[in-house]
Amino acid sequence: MEPELAEREGKRKEVEGRPVVRIAEIADFAGREVAIEGWLYNRRSSGRLAFLLLRDGTGVLQCLLARDRLGEKAFAEAEAVPQEASLTAWGTVRADSRAPGGFELSLAGFTVHQGEPDYPITRKEHGPEFLLDHRHLWIRTPRQAAILRIRSQAEWAFQEFLNERGFVRVDGPILTPNAVEGTTTLFRADYFGEPAYLTQSSQLYAEAAAMALGRVYAFGPTFRAEKSKTRRHLVEFWMLEPEVAYATHEDVMRLAEELVAYAVARVLARCEPELRTLGRDLAPLRRVVPPFPVVSYDEAVELVRRSGLEMEWGDDFGAPQETAVATAFDRPVFVERYPAKAKAFYMQPDPARPEVVLCADLLAPEGYGEIVGGSQRIHDLDLLRERIAQFGLPEEAFRWYLDLRRWGSVPHSGFGLGLERFLAWICGLRHIRETIPFPRLLNRLTP
Ligand code: 4AD
Ligand code: MG
Repeated sequence: MEPELAEREGKRKEVEGRPVVRIAEIADFAGREVAIEGWLYNRRSSGRLAFLLLRDGTGVLQCLLARDRLGEKAFAEAEAVPQEASLTAWGTVRADSRAPGGFELSLAGFTVHQGEPDYPITRKEHGPEFLLDHRHLWIRTPRQAAILRIRSQAEWAFQEFLNERGFVRVDGPILTPNAVEGTTTLFRADYFGEPAYLTQSSQLYAEAAAMALGRVYAFGPTFRAEKSKTRRHLVEFWMLEPEVAYATHEDVMRLAEELVAYAVARVLARCEPELRTLGRDLAPLRRVVPPFPVVSYDEAVELVRRSGLEMEWGDDFGAPQETAVATAFDRPVFVERYPAKAKAFYMQPDPARPEVVLCADLLAPEGYGEIVGGSQRIHDLDLLRERIAQFGLPEEAFRWYLDLRRWGSVPHSGFGLGLERFLAWICGLRHIRETIPFPRLLNRLTP
């Protein structure tokens, strides 16, 4: 772990004359006296000895208490510390192969800051609704904390990758006057008496920004009023949306595969302990290396039918169909050139076959579904107006967007990567709800 700036300058905080260290760096302090600022994760005792399991957000450390060393009174106090009480503990770090993590703290003293009995999340099994009701506490458990660490690392990797390639971050607004991805999942708001919608995607704004800055990306929360309960849909989720002027459909497919491979490699390099906490099989993640296979929509429909599922040409893939396609490959697979009628209004038709559009979805392996959706955008004013009319959208709301096709229009392309879909796959989670700190689901706005 990187020491903080103050620590690198030798100004580490001290408690009772001992340096405050984080559990993740405990190996560097073997044999030394240190203090830990944390919370009581768990405890067990056996008359003469007690073990307090302390967590500090970076790991869990076993603290050994000996009755004869600590004294009767302090020992009794230690045995009474309630679960999840906040405390500072100090003592000597000792290597011990029996301790989880290989080190333990031989306790010399401690201060309890605050705590109460009856912490709601106990060692017994809790149902998902109970845990979601207590999400504000659930995130303290090692599994949930590991997911949040991986999320943070992935967000960083995505932005680092794009920043290093000269992309400028330009975020779109959250409150918008128009739909981007169909009108059925719009989240309505009241904008001083005018109708407004929470953004479904920053794409249209990213397109404007690409004409200003060349290579841009937006990164922020997006909203879809998904009225069905699935394992893959959130009402509020985060999307990373690169958009590139003068780029073709193929150009952004290359960008997407490099971006995904980079982020997976970074999570593997920096979060292996967290992935192990989650019990993630690392072998499939190590195979995530470009080039990713590409199949056409037509070929994908064939794969679906051969797997025994039904599918009409022209339909979008449902979850079982996506899985049928993805499991035919050992790494993420692009499905490109969908029928125009299955996709959004702004996609550029394939010049060789106008009934399909220049788009690609990236399907994650192991049945995790679509993680990226992208396309080349229509750059011709008349064609775009025609599509807006065909889709029954109000041209008035897109006036500013059409301006982009009047003054310096060029072919351009981009995609949206769903952060939580990506994380559900990387973390190997059955349900997407654990990938976001505070999920918004059908019927869930709390906590
Ligand atoms: O395929 P989508 O709808 O594409 C767009 O919104 C484009 N305008 C993006 C662009 O080109 N700039 O969504 C993109 C990705 C999906 O591939 C999926 O990963 C994720 O966003 N996604 C969701 N994730 C969680 N919950 C939902 N309800 C999601 N809907 C889409
Ligand atoms: Mg999509």
